[in-house]
Amino acid sequence: MSLKNTKTWSRVLVPVLLLCCVSYYYSHFFLQRSGAQHDGTPRERRERDRHQLRERRKTAKPEQNSERAFSKALCDSWNISQKWERLNFNVSRNAQLFLKLEDFFWRRYLSTLALPYGVKGSELFLMKALAAMASYDMPETIKHLPCKTCMVVGNGFAIKNTSLGSAINKYDIVIRLNDAPVRGYEADVGNKTTMRLFYPESASYNPSIHNDPDTLMVLVPFKQQDVRWLKEILYNEKRIRKGFWKPPPEIWLGKTSHIRILDPYFLQQTASRLLRLPLNTPPKTNQIPAHPTTGILAIYVALNYCDVIHIAGFGYPESKDLKHPIHYYGYDTMKSMKNSYHNLSHEVKALKRLEDSGAVVYLHPHS
Ligand SMILES: *[C@@H]1O[C@H](CO)[C@@H](O)[C@H](O)[C@H]1NC(C)=O
Ligand SMILES: *[C@@H]1O[C@H](CO)[C@@H](O)[C@H](O)[C@H]1NC(C)=O
Ligand SMILES: *[C@@H]1O[C@H](CO)[C@@H](O)[C@H](O)[C@H]1NC(C)=O
Ligand SMILES: *[C@@H]1O[C@H](CO)[C@@H](O)[C@H](O)[C@H]1NC(C)=O
Ligand SMILES: *[C@@H]1O[C@H](CO)[C@@H](O)[C@H](O)[C@H]1NC(C)=O
Repeated sequence: MSLKNTKTWSRVLVPVLLLCCVSYYYSHFFLQRSGAQHDGTPRERRERDRHQLRERRKTAKPEQNSERAFSKALCDSWNISQKWERLNFNVSRNAQLFLKLEDFFWRRYLSTLALPYGVKGSELFLMKALAAMASYDMPETIKHLPCKTCMVVGNGFAIKNTSLGSAINKYDIVIRLNDAPVRGYEADVGNKTTMRLFYPESASYNPSIHNDPDTLMVLVPFKQQDVRWLKEILYNEKRIRKGFWKPPPEIWLGKTSHIRILDPYFLQQTASRLLRLPLNTPPKTNQIPAHPTTGILAIYVALNYCDVIHIAGFGYPESKDLKHPIHYYGYDTMKSMKNSYHNLSHEVKALKRLEDSGAVVYLHPHS
């Protein structure tokens, strides 16, 4: 075959192969779905969900009932509409937080931005990762709560010695960040974790050490390599180590059924609406774009999903001492944050605005 022929052939073959891949992933997904739920019309499903919820309430342990009472009291005393009007963020509570495989087929996920703010260029990795995952949703027990109380636990030193643990455990949803430990720190940070936001470099290789068994592990993809890392874990493929600023775990023991991928929309909105950062740095400058931290992202996610948002462990030490510890665990100091990708003073101001508007409330005194 001549070179020209080979070229023509590959031009035809590549799209055909691509199409095969796509239909393979889709049928895989479809089979999984239809195997898992042969459960009638949406209406029947809703009825069943409601029934299950009633049954669960009946069999709930006393501590769960006291959690509901706590949640209800908080919701009743919190004037939701007022806070939202003041914020003027155009967020929809109860948003779909996680990427779904369907998005890539039916609604053709259109994105003009690449990661971390959009999916452009990472579609195939995402589809493959999503095809291996079992669910793209919050747990049913949480989804159907009429009013959701949320606690975002930051990793800041400020939470040390606060004894907030048992208070934190009472919220419907407790969000934690990265590899922040729980075991050994329960008195201050509690031990309930509904979801944990992380990226490969901040993943701990065995999430079950510090989380309860039901914790959703939510990947925040900052770059294409992050999605590729997840795909390699899910399919047990050869790990490619290039492109990370710190080696991510090569073995990761998270449960497939509990993995989710955060929709990059939320990082994009955190950057553009909450922090008002430019989404693109001008080409040909060496300036590293400032991305939001997972902490401020988690708060923005909570604004989109929860009715009541309380936070703890946010803020940086007032002290100018670069040796001052910044986390409630470990030995990282302010010095380690100096050359990060984040603009911390900017985030502190944004958080202050949220606090002043009453949209978020701190559980402890802070600077
Ligand atoms: C809550 O705030 C809204 C808007 O400011 C106001 O109209 C309403 O009366 C308030 N409700 C309560 C119970 O304070
Ligand atoms: C607010 O959200 C609605 C619905 O998602 C959208 O159509 C509208 O353009 C948004 N407005 C602004 C100012 O972003
Ligand atoms: C926390 O409490 C312990 C024991 O009481 C004490 O040694 C430590 O200095 C306290 N740390 C802070 C930051 O207050
Ligand atoms: C949290 O701590 C309480 C009290 O020590 C214990 O009963 C509960 O099982 C713990 N939950 C998790 C998820 O570890
Ligand atoms: C960080 O944000 C502040 C405004 O809050 C701005 O003045 C400063 O230039 C930013 N720093 C960097 C490194 O982007």
